[in-house]
Amino acid sequence: MRSLIDILELSVEEIDELIATAEDIIANPAKYQEVCRHKKLATLFFEPSTRTRMSFEAAMYELGGNVISMASASSSSASKGESVADTAKVISCYADIIAMRHPKEGAPLVASMNASIPVINAGDGGHNHPTQTLADLLTIWRKKGKFDGLTIGFCGDLKFGRTVHSLIAAMARYTGIRFILISPDELKLPSYIKKDILEKQGIEYLQTTDLESVMPELDILYMTRVQQERFFNEEDYLRLRDSYILTPEKLENAKKDLCILHPLPRVNEISVGVDADPRACYFEQVLNGKYMRMALILKLLEVKA
Ligand code: CP
Repeated sequence: MRSLIDILELSVEEIDELIATAEDIIANPAKYQEVCRHKKLATLFFEPSTRTRMSFEAAMYELGGNVISMASASSSSASKGESVADTAKVISCYADIIAMRHPKEGAPLVASMNASIPVINAGDGGHNHPTQTLADLLTIWRKKGKFDGLTIGFCGDLKFGRTVHSLIAAMARYTGIRFILISPDELKLPSYIKKDILEKQGIEYLQTTDLESVMPELDILYMTRVQQERFFNEEDYLRLRDSYILTPEKLENAKKDLCILHPLPRVNEISVGVDADPRACYFEQVLNGKYMRMALILKLLEVKA
């Protein structure tokens, strides 16, 4: 039995297999609509979510399965002090697979060590978000047809942005990748990621505070929200929240085939004027997340179509 806590638990070959399954689901949805009949997904969300929870639930329904759900910590016995370990043991009695989001880094790992069913990390604090990375990878694949040789700009809150941490780990495994890390000084990528991933693997990267100066170099621009919920000080959040706002004018010097991604929700980081630009891929990214979560559920439940 396998869980998914960190994107690096999936080999590059397994990512390719998940993309192939997602592409087959897109092309032949009817083939998959009963494959998880009588299987139950439990969504345990101890933090707010729109996309991740609902896409997991839509994914399970489209596979013919069922969903039981805990949409908030306050509506569960976690509010009475029940531990993550006990919760995982209990939910293992009701469901076949768990998707868990938690504000504490490592909580889904603890759940996976105590559950008797697969656990999927649906976002743990400012740490990791592997299924968002699966959505990102399918979108990059569908737009670029490759992963090698891309220059990827990450812009915004690179300190707390768990989607950034997981996508850097995943993309660092491909050849000729170059990262441009665009953030205010206070929200730079954590040094453990630079040291353990970028420097260890000899990956080329540049840190800057200036988005416009690097725009012409980018194949992918990954915008992120400043993560208000991770700040200890409201004043710092207010000062930093609008550090970067992508507008149509700022895209004038960008490549014609730039792919603009954002894990969403957005606050101000991308003006709605950018949405009509064919390079804006963030709503396709949402849909791709559902297909990759379908593919992942099939893999972890060892269900064949
Ligand atoms: N991208 C993402 O994780 O969105 P939600 O917080 O709405 O799930």
